[in-house]
Formats: sequence, structure tokens, C-alpha cells
Amino acid sequence: MKNTFIVLFVINIVAISCQEPDTSRVTIETLHQRMDSLEKKIEIVEAALRPRLSVLMNQLQLHHARMWDPGIGGNWELLSYEFKETRESLDAIRNLYGEKPHGSSKIGIELDQLETALDSLNNAISIQNKDNFVKSYQSLTFKCNNCHKAAGLDFYEIIKPLKPAYSGEMQ
Ligand code: HEC
Repeated sequence: MKNTFIVLFVINIVAISCQEPDTSRVTIETLHQRMDSLEKKIEIVEAALRPRLSVLMNQLQLHHARMWDPGIGGNWELLSYEFKETRESLDAIRNLYGEKPHGSSKIGIELDQLETALDSLNNAISIQNKDNFVKSYQSLTFKCNNCHKAAGLDFYEIIKPLKPAYSGEMQ
């Protein structure tokens, strides 16, 4: 951001000197006004390029759901991959929306509540324990829904995929 600002500042100076050869007429105040207007434009462009929270949540849901099959099927390699993708989706949400108010809290603070479940999921994967996987997956899902409830979004109820956890088990 700082570098972008410096580059744009230099471009602005060059542009000004091209348009108005008599630089003595360019006052400091004019420069400030132009910089302010450029900053506003950058903010608008940055906001337009930022993926919407709902898009990031859908991406998160995809990876969350994709952990289930390999988890109950013992495909630890695929599960590790989807776990990493889930983590990356959560990091993107934190980086872009961590400061956004959420109920009486903030998105970043609410995301911290997922850490215990994510740690135990990571642990279940590293020791390749299916029972621990199921427990921590359910705990993570519960936390997703807790966060939705905290901001009156109860209707976004995340469930584990409907396939039975073990062969022969009825839901
Ligand atoms: C920090 C709180 C928080 C956590 C934790 C959270 N969500 Fe969300 N979720 C939201 C908010 C806020 C929205 C509404 C976004 C919007 O519409 O702008 C949302 C919306 C969604 C949506 C609907 C997106 C759409 O189409 O509009 C899905 C799907 C979703 N979340 C999945 C998940 C999953 C899966 C998890 C857990 C792995 C999770 N969320 C954890 C806050 C959270």
C-alpha cells in the first residue's frame, strides 16, 4: 500500500509536469487535493477487486464439505489437502474482513473461536484417527453455525455431508 502510494505520487507529479509546464503554478494545496482524489480512487478500485464475504464463505463451505469423504474414508492425503484449503479460506476471510463488525464482536475475533477445533482436526489428521476426525469435524461445524447465529444468520446452517460416517451406520 505504501509502495503503491509512493509510485502513484511520482506518477502524479510527472503527469502534472506534463500537463502544466509552469510548475510554479501548482500549489501544494492542489497537489494534496489530487493526492486525496487519487487515494479515494484507489480505495474504490481495491473494494471492487476484493472478493465478497459471501463468495469467500462459499469457498470455505466447499472445502469444509470436501473434508468429509476423505476423512471417513481414510484418504489422509486428500484430507490434508482439503484441510489446508479450508485454512487458507479462513485466512483470506480474516485478512480481508477481520475488522468487520459481526454482531457485538468482529469477524477476526469470532474466527479465533474455531482454532481449538482446527487444532484437533489437524491432530486427528496427523495421527490418522478417524474417530477424532469425526469429533473435531462436528465441533468445527458447530462453531461455523455459532458464528452465524451470533449475527442473526441462523438460516445459514452448515451440516456435515449426509453420507453415514461409517459403513452400516444409519443417520
Ligand atoms: C466469523 C463468523 C463466521 C464464521 C466462523 C463462519 N461464517 Fe459463514 N458466514 C458469516 C457471515 C457474516 C455470512 C454472511 C455473508 C454475507 O452474506 O455477506 C456467512 C455466510 C455463509 C454462507 C452463505 C454464503 C452465501 O451464499 O451468501 C456459507 C455457505 C457459510 N457462511 C459457510 C461457513 C462455513 C462452512 C463455516 C465454517 C467452516 C463458516 N461459514 C464460518 C460468518 C461466519
